[in-house]
Amino acid sequence: MSRYPAVPEGIAFGGDYNPEQWPAEVQEEDVRLMREAGVTLVSLGVFSWVQTEPREGVYEFGWLDAIVDRLHDAGISVNLGTPTAAPPAWFSRAYPDAFPVTREGVRVGAGGRQHACSSHPAFRAASARLAERLAERYGDHPAVVMWHVHNEYGAPLGECYCAASTAAWRLWLRRRHEDLDALNAAWGTAFWGQRYGDWEEIDAPRWSHTVVNPAQRLDYARFASEEHLSHFRLQRDILRRTGKPVTTNFAGTVNCKSMDLWRWAPELDVIANDHYLNGEQPDNHIWLSMSADLSRSLAGGEPWMLMEHSTGAISWQARGIAKRPGEMRRNSLAHVARGSDSVLFFQWRASRSGAEKWHSAMLPHGGTGTRIWQDVVALGADVRRLAPVRGGRVTAEVAVAWDWESYWALELEWRPTGDLAFRERVDAFYEALWREHVTVDFVHPSADISAYKVVVLPSSYLLTEGSAKNLQRYVEGGGHLLVSYFSGVVDEHDTVHEGPYPGALREVLGLSVEEFHPLREHETVTLTGGGTGRVWSERVHLVGARAEQHFADGPDAGHPAYTSHDFGAGTARYLAAGLTPAGLRPLLGALLDRAGVSRPRDLPENLELVRRGAHTFLINHGPAPATVTGLSGTDLLTGAPFTGDVPPGGVAVVAPTQE
Ligand code: GAL
Repeated sequence: MSRYPAVPEGIAFGGDYNPEQWPAEVQEEDVRLMREAGVTLVSLGVFSWVQTEPREGVYEFGWLDAIVDRLHDAGISVNLGTPTAAPPAWFSRAYPDAFPVTREGVRVGAGGRQHACSSHPAFRAASARLAERLAERYGDHPAVVMWHVHNEYGAPLGECYCAASTAAWRLWLRRRHEDLDALNAAWGTAFWGQRYGDWEEIDAPRWSHTVVNPAQRLDYARFASEEHLSHFRLQRDILRRTGKPVTTNFAGTVNCKSMDLWRWAPELDVIANDHYLNGEQPDNHIWLSMSADLSRSLAGGEPWMLMEHSTGAISWQARGIAKRPGEMRRNSLAHVARGSDSVLFFQWRASRSGAEKWHSAMLPHGGTGTRIWQDVVALGADVRRLAPVRGGRVTAEVAVAWDWESYWALELEWRPTGDLAFRERVDAFYEALWREHVTVDFVHPSADISAYKVVVLPSSYLLTEGSAKNLQRYVEGGGHLLVSYFSGVVDEHDTVHEGPYPGALREVLGLSVEEFHPLREHETVTLTGGGTGRVWSERVHLVGARAEQHFADGPDAGHPAYTSHDFGAGTARYLAAGLTPAGLRPLLGALLDRAGVSRPRDLPENLELVRRGAHTFLINHGPAPATVTGLSGTDLLTGAPFTGDVPPGGVAVVAPTQE
């Protein structure tokens, strides 16, 4: 099966199209303007359940037939949605117990979207019926090139605590643990007298006035991700019979905490990601890169699809910050640089009513006289010029570990400090590497990492024996591993690995940690190398490793803070402090050099350089012109020879000149 859609050629361009909001004459204009902008692919029907099935079992496809045909006549392909994210009022009335319930016991209300529980039998049956009918009707339609199931699973609510979920949870637990003794052992129920004598005694880990068993919470997070996934699979299996690829749009790979996307990824025919900039965050293009790199990594290095992003303001953020001139173009092309074979937006035409009318669109309320429209048309032309990039691979020599199970476990209550945050450490390492112009892949710690020159493990609190062995083999085989504090501490059940910390990694790191010394709010520590650390300090004892740097102050002054251990043919390093990105850079720089990681030198810090296949993308995020030496070829965006200069805010995509 094709891993990405059979759109006519090149990089797909377009977005979510919601024609049900508009009369026929507007739809006619839509298609005309889509052609003007160079749109090649639209996602249709994502929220149109009630239009498609106005009453239970009564289907109306006429309106959809008409628009699919019209798009087809205009040469525009369709990514057809299953509208299960928008249950109609008749559904909610008929099945009131299908409303999701939060951990606090609040029943979600109607009038929004995503208000049916993925475990509820009536919702599942209705979803399967819809998928059947859509597959029957449009499976052979030449305009429909792929399927888009549901919308952003797990957002905004990942875990549901309704009666149907609780019943499904008990079944899931029986499959996972097989017998009650195993469950009691895994959850450590001897503590606080929580031992279970019957499966029916086990409840979902609802909100309580004190901490609920963390192993139970962790299992519930796994269960919730699996339940949504099984709702996806139900529809996917039906749609796949049409022979066309099936996907669902991830709610931002780096932002969607509730879904274990490593488990989801192999189930999709193509990875699709939605990415929304945090308008207020400085240098937010760095987190865009991170989201794109994680999307590519989930795709196993294959091309993926940017399914949604914005032309400007995002209405669900506190402030709808408009994009500055050139920003939308840089954003779009940065996704392509990092492996996306599409540039798609939410949404085509700005809505006049409803919840998202203040969200930007490709065609704003102001119509074709607006700057956004002109930029969209220009971007469409840029995207057409990038056709040769399609299918190209990005290769990385450095990998950063990312594990959703560890993310969940780390952020449960009553950890050594409430300041531990998964994203804080991953972001710090990612930012430092980004500023060093290093492209990274993300990996699960159990994955085959043998090809990477450097692997970074940012606070990977939960680490199975199997993953720890995998990392150990990597170092033995010649790899350079960098482990940050509070890694390899507990197993998959949140049970502390035996012996001194970090149980799972003691041997490869050649050290042990005696005691954690979390810092007070705003307290910092300094390392002898000069870096500043926050959040953490701890007492490290060397057992074979050597100290490269010590704590210069704080509770562990004079004790090792950064260590290095030769192990087999490789080296394992350990950083016991929460260094800022600026503090990480020199340390990482030395490690990259030592490991022979190739990276461009002497580039302005704000110039993003990424190689995709034979093409080099240069994106200048800075206010000054940037000059790149030693690179020649043709700039695909201008068709002219590349001069070496990238103007402020500009982009060049350099293709090697054909011999
Ligand atoms: C996404 C969602 C879209 C739209 C968009 C607005 O999360 O999938 O339907 O709501 O946000 O930014």
